[in-house]
Amino acid sequence: MPLVLKTDIEPNMTKNFTSSACKFLTLVFVFALLTFTSNAQEISSDPAVISAGESLFNANCKACHRVNAKLVGPALAGVQDRAPSIDWIKNFVKNSSKVIASGDDYAVKLYNEYNKTQMTAFSSFKDDQIMSILAYVKAEAGKAAAAPVAAAGTTPTSAAPAEAGLSAQYMNIILIGMVIILVLLLVILGFIVSALKRFLDQKELSEEDKEIVHSPITAATAVRSPAFTFIIVFLIAAFGFKAVINGLFSIGVQQGYAPKQPIAFSHKIHAGDNEIDCKYCHTGVMKGKSATIPSVNVCWNCHNQIRSGAITGEGEIAKIVKAYETNTPIQWVRIHNLPDLAYFNHAQHVNVGGQECQTCHGPIQEMDVVRQQSLLTMGWCIDCHRKTDVNTKGSAYYDKLVEIHNQSKKGNMKVEDIGGLECSKCHY
Ligand code: HEC
Ligand code: HEC
Ligand code: HEC
Ligand code: HEC
Ligand code: HEC
Ligand code: HEC
Repeated sequence: MPLVLKTDIEPNMTKNFTSSACKFLTLVFVFALLTFTSNAQEISSDPAVISAGESLFNANCKACHRVNAKLVGPALAGVQDRAPSIDWIKNFVKNSSKVIASGDDYAVKLYNEYNKTQMTAFSSFKDDQIMSILAYVKAEAGKAAAAPVAAAGTTPTSAAPAEAGLSAQYMNIILIGMVIILVLLLVILGFIVSALKRFLDQKELSEEDKEIVHSPITAATAVRSPAFTFIIVFLIAAFGFKAVINGLFSIGVQQGYAPKQPIAFSHKIHAGDNEIDCKYCHTGVMKGKSATIPSVNVCWNCHNQIRSGAITGEGEIAKIVKAYETNTPIQWVRIHNLPDLAYFNHAQHVNVGGQECQTCHGPIQEMDVVRQQSLLTMGWCIDCHRKTDVNTKGSAYYDKLVEIHNQSKKGNMKVEDIGGLECSKCHY
């Protein structure tokens, strides 16, 4: 039969067919090429764009997304190929609930797949900011494919040991010094005694006197001697003095304070293992005096979905569920607390001054229970203001100051040079 069919087809028809098929294929090819190149053009591989995207990603998306792994939201690697379009991604990032509400198939499916977890809306994001995040995601995804082993994240700089133990250290050094001096004194006394004995032996002495000179030093005679009493009294006085001084220094100082919290919240799990940015929860830190403690709504963003143990109504997560459902705030115990007479501003230090959280709070990302790392005394504040350079980069206001400073003084401009030691800056 096929043979008959073949003879049926006129040569002209075959030609027509092939030419139209050719046209169609070329069209598809051109179209594919166009979409391909347009995508390639849109997602930049410029290192500057990628690094801008990286900081945006770390600050805003990392709480819920990883490039190559699923977290609260999907792994973002390859999202530019699987999402309906680049414009769709832009709209979704700006306001995902609007896209979901519009009934968009892909969005609704994704939303249900992620247990109806609401993604934060980034309505203030510009298109090119979102494009830079995509550039970073693409670069990271490429990197992971090339070297799957190199997945280690950057560990935040661990804090320098606080000045904290310093005064205690000095006291110990002084005590050890005293003990050494005492021992030396004993040795010298020993020498003097034996020299005296030898001197007395050369003299003519009565029997009684000889007995006294050569009386053996036993434990009993030693204990009864006034020297022994002196040493004991001296030691007791020294230790007592140290305790009193330490006590005076630590009045109102809560270093090491690590109270039990109503929910066993672990910074190690959140900020360490899952690398959630501090600013995601402590939202005030860049713009205000207080760093702020997150409300239960912030916990809910993730624990709406991450719920081990919550189903049974027991365990730590169940407490979050309960707080959320009954709308009662969690009563966290405050750890760091300056007296009212002192003024401290986070934005000034973190945003303007560029100080790392860890410099003052220690390696929080390794703590299961938060503990106060620094002394938080006036001496601690002043000490850092004397030692730390002012972060003057990119500020015209500071450029002028630096210029004036360099004319009058040598060395970098420290915080003390801009008034960091003035009483009124820290005291109301
Ligand atoms: C509070 C957690 C959260 C944050 C923060 C977050 N997302 Fe999402 N994202 C999600 C969840 C959950 C989904 C899955 C869809 C849903 O449930 O709405 C998602 C989905 C997406 C998708 C679609 C993924 C796909 O597979 O198609 C993109 C793109 C996306 N997010 C980008 C971003 C970007 C960019 C940022 C930062 C600017 C960001 N997200 C921040 C939770 C978050
Ligand atoms: C997932 C949310 C979350 C993240 C991320 C997070 N924290 Fe916290 N943080 C909390 C909560 C909740 C508390 C209160 C409970 C406690 O003390 O453990 C807290 C308490 C603290 C305290 C003690 C506050 C007090 O009472 O004095 C400090 C300091 C702190 N966080 C610093 C950090 C730093 C630094 C990071 C980043 C490395 C970070 N946090 C990341 C939620 C978070
Ligand atoms: C950005 C997402 C995110 C936010 C916000 C978040 N968590 Fe978590 N939390 C996680 C992840 C991820 C885990 C680890 C889950 C695991 O390993 O099973 C976790 C684990 C926990 C655990 C341990 C659970 C267990 O099984 O022992 C507790 C308790 C917890 N979170 C409390 C909180 C509290 C309280 C808040 C709000 C202050 C909060 N979380 C905010 C992501 C988040
Ligand atoms: C220059 C030192 C310094 C740096 C840097 C710093 N803090 Fe603090 N932080 C403090 C002091 C001091 C307090 C106590 C403030 C008070 O009692 O008024 C505090 C208190 C807190 C508290 C308790 C609530 C509050 O706001 O009083 C949290 C949470 C906190 N810091 C988080 C952070 C995070 C997150 C960062 C980094 C983004 C950070 N801190 C950086 C010194 C610092
Ligand atoms: C880790 C170092 C560090 C510690 C600790 C520290 N500061 Fe500062 N502080 C800075 C830096 C850096 C600046 C300069 C910020 C800038 O560029 O304006 C600053 C600036 C200030 C200013 C503004 C000074 C001015 O003239 O503009 C005040 C007020 C202040 N700090 C208060 C405090 C108090 C109160 C404490 C202790 C509870 C403290 N600081 C602890 C580093 C520190
Ligand atoms: C960099 C910030 C800073 C500057 C500058 C500063 N102080 Fe303080 N001061 C503090 C802090 C913080 C405390 C609370 C510390 C504590 O309780 O241990 C404090 C405590 C005090 C106290 C003790 C109050 C008490 O109840 O124990 C006195 C007095 C005091 N300051 C006076 C001064 C004077 C006078 C000056 C100017 C020469 C000055 N301070 C400059 C930060 C500062």
